[in-house]
Amino acid sequence: MQNCEIIDGKLYAAEVLERVKSKIGHLSTVICKTQRATLGLAVILVGTDAASQIYVNNKAKKAKEIGFNSEVYKFPQTATEQEIIECIERLNSDPNVNGILVQLPLPQHINTQKIIDTVNYEKDVDGFSTYNVGLLNSWQDSLEPCTPQGVLILLHEILGTNISGKKAVILGRSRIVGRPMASILIRKGCSVTSLNSNSYNIKDECRTADILISAVGSPSFIKGDWIKKGACVIDVGIVKVNDKLYGDVDFESVRKVAGFLTPVPGGVGPMTVSCLMLNTIKAAYKQYDIKW
Ligand code: GUN
Repeated sequence: MQNCEIIDGKLYAAEVLERVKSKIGHLSTVICKTQRATLGLAVILVGTDAASQIYVNNKAKKAKEIGFNSEVYKFPQTATEQEIIECIERLNSDPNVNGILVQLPLPQHINTQKIIDTVNYEKDVDGFSTYNVGLLNSWQDSLEPCTPQGVLILLHEILGTNISGKKAVILGRSRIVGRPMASILIRKGCSVTSLNSNSYNIKDECRTADILISAVGSPSFIKGDWIKKGACVIDVGIVKVNDKLYGDVDFESVRKVAGFLTPVPGGVGPMTVSCLMLNTIKAAYKQYDIKW
């Protein structure tokens, strides 16, 4: 049987957080000398989606734990676009708020892109605004989406920093994972294939992957016979079924073939939260014009 290494996302996420904490410490001493400001992350939640509530609370709690000021702004499902926009505009001009995140999905009657683009791009710690997406795709410095950033850190830990030339297959084309993941890996020199539910020969495409990244949210969708021997398999999917969490990857069959595999939970999830903290402190350094 192939010896598959199960990747401990919590371990690498903790390393990222340590880096963030030291960056917070440094910036706090620099800015406290000149002004009475705090460093902060604002999270906006609209509606009562159970998973979103958990994610938002986790993000705000982690931010507080490591030394940010963190507030959650909660709106009912019936909130209007104008109410959310007014809240974002206040946060845009608040010097104590360095990062703003609007939890997705938003209710149907809200124009998601309009809301995202109301966030000042320098505070857009999700990296979803049109401006930040443009910067990423033109290979300029930007705030990059947290989950793909976390996946890249894991890939570097697993495969080393040179992943140029590797064949990467990405399942899913969401604004949160699939699209920015493809951009990031193209910039890194990978040969990238993006698959979605309309794609032909999904299984055969997956079998060509040195790096397989799945973010479709279909429990145990990917089986062992879809995997190239020794491949690095990153499972971004997470779905609760009867109180148990499942990833996109059928863990037991895939681990027999893959070289590396991220578990669910405890793989990519913790990296997303750590990268949000990293983006918030990066945004703050930029806003204070302090060298990173
Ligand atoms: N919903 C699921 N993942 C995310 C994320 O990374 N950011 C935001 N804003 N919403 C999400």
